Amino acid sequence: MDGVTSSVTAARPGGAHARAPRSSRLATQAPRQKTALLVALVWCLTAASPALAQDTPYPIFTADHLDATMKTLGPNLAGLQAALREGDFSTAKERAIRSREQLATTVTFWRDHERDDAVQLIRDVLDQFDALDGLLSTPEVDSAGVEPLLSGIQRGCQACHGVYREQDALTGDYRLNQSAL
Ligand code: HEC
Repeated sequence: MDGVTSSVTAARPGGAHARAPRSSRLATQAPRQKTALLVALVWCLTAASPALAQDTPYPIFTADHLDATMKTLGPNLAGLQAALREGDFSTAKERAIRSREQLATTVTFWRDHERDDAVQLIRDVLDQFDALDGLLSTPEVDSAGVEPLLSGIQRGCQACHGVYREQDALTGDYRLNQSAL
């Protein structure tokens, strides 16, 4: 312990005095050094911003992310329906799980925009995906129970689309209805 204390105190002398000359040294630095310092500072500031964004508790989920997720969710749900029609329950289950995962990620977008109604719609659809997953996980799948869950899911998709999605009249492309946000 003594050794540590003495090495700390040993480092001290002059420390307080060394501070004052340091600022005057900066003032007399060659202009090239100052430029390098400035470049380093700017670099730090710009490099820090993406790092800061990564540190936020939720990743930022943009409208582009929403678009990309919806574009993969669509075919997954279509695949789920096709698999159910064919009675291929294991593929249906995979598709249901995948669709559920994809839809679940989008909840961040609606939370960020404080759209409680949209968050609730997603929750309801997720619950139905869970119930469907449960049904499809049983050895003897109750196909009569599948149908109402599937239509419930589709109703949930459409309920949100009716409010928050719009279609470009010219291109037919879908996009977020910004005015509803
Ligand atoms: C809480 C709201 C919400 C829910 C629930 C929702 N969507 Fe969407 N969806 C949107 C919005 C908003 C868009 C338009 C965004 C875009 O495409 O840029 C969209 C777009 C789409 C598109 C068009 C993508 C494109 O650009 O071609 C498909 C397909 C789609 N959704 C499928 C689904 C399916 C399937 C479900 C249900 C399992 C679902 N969505 C549930 C909000 C929702």
